[in-house]
Order: sequence, then structure tokens, then C-alpha cells
Amino acid sequence: MTQIVKIKGMNKYFGKLHVLKDIDLTVEQGEVVVIIGASGSGKSTLIRCVNGLEEFESGTLEVDNHPLAPKGGNQKALAEIRKEVGMVFQQFNLFPHLTVRKNIMLAPMKVKNAAQVVANATAERLLNRVGIGNQADKYPSQLSGGQQQRVAIARALAMEPRLMLFDEPTSALDPEMIGEVLDVMRELAKEGMTMIVVTHEMGFAREVADRVIYIHEGQIVEEGKPADVFDNPQNERTQSFLSRVLAH
Ligand SMILES: Nc1ncnc2c1ncn2[C@@H]1O[C@H](COP(=O)(O)OP(=O)(O)O)[C@@H](O)[C@H]1O
Ligand SMILES: [Mg+2]
Repeated sequence: MTQIVKIKGMNKYFGKLHVLKDIDLTVEQGEVVVIIGASGSGKSTLIRCVNGLEEFESGTLEVDNHPLAPKGGNQKALAEIRKEVGMVFQQFNLFPHLTVRKNIMLAPMKVKNAAQVVANATAERLLNRVGIGNQADKYPSQLSGGQQQRVAIARALAMEPRLMLFDEPTSALDPEMIGEVLDVMRELAKEGMTMIVVTHEMGFAREVADRVIYIHEGQIVEEGKPADVFDNPQNERTQSFLSRVLAH
């Protein structure tokens, strides 16, 4: 088994706030790991560390055999990791002044020196894959939230990532658009993409995750198969979190 992510004893602080505490986390190739936890528990910070958007103070972090050192060390590994890891945010983060097509073509051309015709063909293929092949020449503001998030996924896929990180990808969407984005993610998972997903969509987690991780105040306090974590949580914190979330 190839381990795409290897984190050992990782600690991160924001000033005095100890935001990630002794994190140990391994993700195998093809695995889908869903991270759940209350607001402010450190979920975003954890996945932002995985692609080097945040520095950490101690411990080790390796992504696809590129070791990142604490405090932003090893810039070369960081550049490699950024190329290999796709990230999708709650707020889409598309470039508003570029068409959907150009949004997707940008990184392959800039970072991988892809030829324009190649990048264009990739954009069209990926837009078809996420079900919006007919929207290529619109601007992001002309699309619905669900469509914009699908563009953001296509844009991340254009870099042929080895790992995809999702940070609450459906939290900013109107309810009727959540399903179309989750469908794309479900397909990706089926095709074998390695994924770490922060989400409050417990139905999706139960169905798609190989493993669910519950974070409480910066610590992984429970981890297991979805059925075990959801139906038979061992930690009292997990029980109380789930009873609050699943009550809706
Ligand atoms: N850039 C930052 N500077 C200072 N504190 C931060 C920063 N980002 C997040 N935090 C704090 O770190 C904690 C974890 O935040 P975050 O990882 O965003 O949690 P989650 O994604 O689980 O809601 C929170 O207390 C938050 O206020
Ligand atoms: Mg967050």
C-alpha cells in the first residue's frame, strides 16, 4: 500500500493557541477520509497543513514522499506538494475576471507549462466530467453556486492531483445544490481518487468514507469505519457531537 499522507506527532500553534495536538494520521492511496468536528476544532487548519498553506511547529508531515519540515522548512518539497495536491474550499475561490475555461487552463499552463491547446482540451474534458461542458465560456458570476463549485473541482483536477482536499465544499451552497456537488465527489471517490474531506454531510460520510475522523479541540479523539463511528461512537465527545449534529 502506498501512503499518500503520513503525519506523525504534529503540533501547530496560532500564537498561544495550541490548535493541533499530536496529530497522527496516515492516508493510503485511494482512501477517502472524512474529518468531522465542531466549528473551531482545527479541521481546516489540519488540511491546510497538508498542502503547506499553514506551517506547523513540530512533528513530521509527508505527502507523496515529499517531507515537509516544521516552520515552513523544505521549500522544494512544498512546491512539489502544491503541484500534487488539489484543494477545494467552501467559497469556491474562482478567479472572477476569467471565464470558466480560463480558470481551469491557468494552473496547467503556468505551473506545468502545458500548451494552450492541451490545457483547453483538458478543461473541456473536465467540465464534461463534472457535468457542465456547456458553461465553459461563462464567467463564474454567471453560474449557480453548485456549478461554481463543480468548476472549482474541475480546476483542481486539471493539475492531475495525487490527493484532493475538500474543506466544507457544500457549506456555502443552497440546499438544492448540495447533491450535485456531492455526486461529483462520489464519482471521484469511485474512480479511486485519494481524498480528505471536511464536511458536515453525514450521509455522504457514511456512504463514501473509508474512514471517519473526529477532531475535538485540535485532537483526533476517534477514528474508524463510518458505521462504527456513527452507530457506536466510543468517545463521549464524539457521542455528544453526533447527537447534536444528527438531531437535525
Ligand atoms: N490564521 C489564524 N490565526 C489565528 N487563529 C486562527 C487562525 N485560523 C484559525 N484560527 C483558530 O484556530 C482554531 C481552529 O480553526 P479552524 O482550523 O478554522 O477550525 P475548523 O475548521 O474546525 O472550524 C480556531 O480557534 C480558530 O479561531
Ligand atoms: Mg473550517
